[in-house]
Formats: sequence, C-alpha cells, structure tokens
Amino acid sequence: MMDINENKTKEQLNERIKELGCLYEITSIIVKSNSKNKEKTLKEIANSLKKAFQFPDKVEVLIKVHDFEILTAKQAISEAWICSNIKVFKKKAGTLKVFFTNSSETNFLIEEQLLLDNVAIKIGDFIERIETNQNEASLKRQMERADRLVILGELTAGIAHELNTPLANILGFAELLQEDFKYDKNALSDLDKIIQNTIFSREVVKKLMFFACEMPQEMKEVNLVPIIKGAIDLLDSSFRKSEVKYIVKIEKEVITLKADPIQLTQIIFNLVMNCIYFSPKGGLVCISAGEKENSVYIEISDQGKGFSEDALEKIFQPFYTTKPVGDGSGLGLSVVHGIVSSHKGKISVKNLKDKGACFTVILPK
Ligand SMILES: Nc1ncnc2c1ncn2[C@@H]1O[C@H](COP(=O)(O)OP(=O)(O)OP(=O)(O)O)[C@@H](O)[C@H]1O
Ligand SMILES: [Mg+2]
Repeated sequence: MMDINENKTKEQLNERIKELGCLYEITSIIVKSNSKNKEKTLKEIANSLKKAFQFPDKVEVLIKVHDFEILTAKQAISEAWICSNIKVFKKKAGTLKVFFTNSSETNFLIEEQLLLDNVAIKIGDFIERIETNQNEASLKRQMERADRLVILGELTAGIAHELNTPLANILGFAELLQEDFKYDKNALSDLDKIIQNTIFSREVVKKLMFFACEMPQEMKEVNLVPIIKGAIDLLDSSFRKSEVKYIVKIEKEVITLKADPIQLTQIIFNLVMNCIYFSPKGGLVCISAGEKENSVYIEISDQGKGFSEDALEKIFQPFYTTKPVGDGSGLGLSVVHGIVSSHKGKISVKNLKDKGACFTVILPK
C-alpha cells in the first residue's frame, strides 16, 4: 500500500517537474525570439509543450493565432482534446489545442489544462510583443516619410514658383516671334518646338504645384459616383488597348462630399492609369467606393506585380518612377498625394495578399 502511494506521489511530482520545466523552456524560447522568427518560435513552443504531457508520444499540439497555424502532427483529427483561448490585446485571437492521436486514451490531467492555460497566456503575450514592435516600427517609418514629403513639398513649391514666371516669359516671347517670322518656315518650326517644350515644362510645374498643394481649388458639394463613372468612361479605351479588364463596385448611387471635382477626377485618373500600366494582359482592375459616417473612400487595386519595399517608401516622392525613360515622369502619385492632403484626406498603399497593388483614398465629407 505504502509503495503504491509513494509511487503515485513520485509520479505526480515528476509530472509537476515536467510542467514547470516546460514553462521555463517556453519562457526562454520567447525571450530569445524576435519578430522575424515568429513561426519558428511557435513551432518550438509546440514541441516543448508536447513533451510536458503525460503521454508525449500520443498527443499532438495545434497553435492557431490570426492566420497562422502550427501543428506538430500531419493531421488534426481527434475526439479527445483540451484547448485554451489565446488572447491578444484582450481579444480572442486563436486557440491552443492538445489532442490524443490514439483514441484509446481520452483523459487529460487537470494540471495539463492549467499548463495549457499558462502557455496560451505566454503565446498571447509573445504575439502582443511582436505586434507592438511592428506598429512602432511602421509608425516611425510613416512619420519619417511624412516629414520627408513635407520638406519635399516646400522645396518643390519654391522651385515651381521660381520656374513659373520664366516659363511664362519664354512662352510669351516665343509666341511674339511667331508673328515676326511668319514667312520663315524653318524658324516657325523651331519656334513651334520651343513652344511645345515650354508647354510640357509648364505641365510639369503644374503637377509639382499640385503635389505641394499650391493649386487653386474649387471646393463644392459633389456626388462622387458620376465623377468615378465619368473618369472610368474616359479610360475605357486605355483599358481596351492594354487588354486589361475592370470592375466598378459602388455601394450607392449618391455619395456626396465637399471636394474639387476636377481634382477628384485627377486622383482616379492617375491611380487607374498606373494600375493599367502595371497590369498583366487579362488582369483585373477593381475600383470600389463607398461611405462611412464622416468620410468617403475610394479603393483601386490591380493584379500586377505590386511594390518592392523600396517603392513603398518612395512612390509619393516627385520624380520617383520605375517606368523606362519616356514612359513616365514620376509625378502621378505626387499629384494624387498633394490633392488628397489638400482635401485633408489620407492615402494608403499596400500589396495585396494574392498579387497586386491596392490604393485606398479616404476623404472627409
Ligand atoms: N499600380 C501600381 N503597381 C505597381 N507599381 C506602381 C503602381 N502605381 C505606381 N507604382 C510605382 O510608383 C511609381 C510612381 O508612380 P507615379 O504615378 O508617381 O509615376 P509614374 O507612373 O512612374 O509616372 P507618371 O505618372 O508621371 O506618368 C511607378 O513608377 C511605379 O514604380
Ligand atoms: Mg503614374
């Protein structure tokens, strides 16, 4: 009798030691990890947890957090299991599950459930830490980018102003000379080139001024829906020429906001033109719009190659382009950024999960 009791106590003690050892090991794994090896860390945690169970060879562990899944076995089919919720920032974000692979065993110890609860808390803390770090890093990057864009905007506004007057003068005098040389064919052709190039330069200056929010605006109550439809109609031939398909999804027939209608058209134009350019043949561009309580949104996405890390940092800077020389000036998105800022809105950009770029513009009503 004594012997059995003693054995039982010994066994229980062993289990406790195993559990404590497991908790210690998991804490060490988490301390050593960083946000870059989340998957590896979760795998290590799962393996460590498996070892702490009474029958390590007969149980498997499943960790599910957000869209992440780690499983120590090939398949997760079982009748007998215990599980615990993983909470991240106080919200349920996943589950931690341990199950028997052999149906002859069905009983877990109470201590095992407690261990599971403890490990679930640790995993939740670990994910929280990663997310906090990621948010901080992305906030810092965003602030740096915003700072840079403000400085660039000021610089650009200065340069554009300086160039505006001499360009107007070149144009004015060239037009005067056209009169003087009206019988000289060669001179007229040269003058024509001067005029065309000056007009082109003025367009660049105009775009720069848009970027720097220096253009006059005509704000009025407008319906976004016909503006989008009108812009897309104009782009219809570009879509067809590039063999790109499109779909327009608009929640309602009337979405009103206070904005400059021409500038709204320009936002859609520049974003969609880029999508068409970067779409593969047969690709789909999706233009959607809708409204929230105090704002409206326009979302434009494609199925192209999306952005590199470097591009994500720089796309709104004037003259940043990856198009070959002659194909683009790198001002389209700078203009969009300028217009959105002057409307006190926000523009964000991301890569889609499957493939492609996605722009979201949010404008206050
Ligand atoms: N839909 C997209 N997919 C992938 N990359 C894009 C997309 N839109 C923009 N980019 C990237 O951002 C860069 C800057 O775009 P932006 O519209 O400012 O200039 P651009 O299109 O190159 O020239 P421009 O608009 O003046 O003709 C592009 O060259 C490209 O590298
Ligand atoms: Mg462009």
